[in-house]
Amino acid sequence: MACVLAIETSCDETAVAIVKDRTCCSSIVSSQIPVHQMYGGVVPEVASRSHVEKINEAIAFALLEAQLDWGAIDGVAATCAPGLVGSLLVGLTAAKTLAVVHQKPFLGIHHLEGHIYATYLSEPELKPPFLCLLVSGGHTSLIYVKDCGKYEMLGATRDDAAGEAFDKVARLLNLSYPGGPAIDKLAKQGNPAAFPLPEGKVSLPSGGYHPYDSSFSGLKTAVLRLVQKLEQETSDLPVSDLAASFQETVARSLTKRVIRCALDYGLDTITLGGGVAANSGLRKHLQEAAVGHNLQILFPPLNLCTDNAAMIGCAAADHLSRGHSSSLTLGVQSRLPITEVMQLYKALG
Ligand code: KG4
Ligand code: ZN
Repeated sequence: MACVLAIETSCDETAVAIVKDRTCCSSIVSSQIPVHQMYGGVVPEVASRSHVEKINEAIAFALLEAQLDWGAIDGVAATCAPGLVGSLLVGLTAAKTLAVVHQKPFLGIHHLEGHIYATYLSEPELKPPFLCLLVSGGHTSLIYVKDCGKYEMLGATRDDAAGEAFDKVARLLNLSYPGGPAIDKLAKQGNPAAFPLPEGKVSLPSGGYHPYDSSFSGLKTAVLRLVQKLEQETSDLPVSDLAASFQETVARSLTKRVIRCALDYGLDTITLGGGVAANSGLRKHLQEAAVGHNLQILFPPLNLCTDNAAMIGCAAADHLSRGHSSSLTLGVQSRLPITEVMQLYKALG
């Protein structure tokens, strides 16, 4: 049993949580969305300053909510890659300082590994191997989860990430940032069959299409052209129908790839992670397809899909219980493939 205090500051949420193995004792998420909303996206410099202002209070609240003191904490963790360098540095420096002051092991955690671990918090019986569809603002990845720290990338996006596509299309429709939740809400009132849109496919040099890779830039351009055409014809843009048609196309294309991949690799369990995993259209499509193919599909609760520190703590508790810890000289990295996570830990023994 390992109890970890974990910090997540890779983008625009200042988050601190205390996690005992797969149980969340406290989770504080201080969102910066209102700070960035007027710019229509995350401004990295503003994000790091805001993390500095909020981090100490979030740490104090996490300990208070869990009703625990430092004697109960076995390790301190922070997201160290990938993400905005200035933002990551705030959380990493805070975690290292707490680890030194309270003489606890320190662990750097890969943000995407955290997203994978979110499902363990609601499904404590879940065991690898399984397939994880990770869909966030920066990633669209199909990951074969073999064990703690052991991952194989089976599919990715060739251009925009799924969340990025939601955010860009939302901007075209004059919806507020972040675009995903706004499109999801509007899509509920729209007709998903109103506008047929092209599903992006990735061609293979040998002919045919890549079965698991995605591409969203063509879809985004198709929505742009459609909006331009409709604006010439009407002053009343059918925003709900556009949102529903776009969401339907993304959900259909991701569902097709994830089901095909699970069947090809003989994996009977699929999990979801990342902000877009909160999308109601994607959940519905996946659930229906999973039933049809006799596959088990597990979603994290909505508050654990978007960035939070509980998922980071859950990954850290597993690493710590296996004897993994990081050097205090570990730095932050804006990019790091998930297949490289074990380089974050000191050699055992
Ligand atoms: O995982 P996350 O919080 O941050 C990253 O690691 O990127 O994901 C944020 C992304 C944003 O692009 C946001 O628009 C999208 O997740 N998102 C959604 C929904 N909620 C958040 N996209 C579609 N439907 C949603 N309900
Ligand atoms: Zn994330």
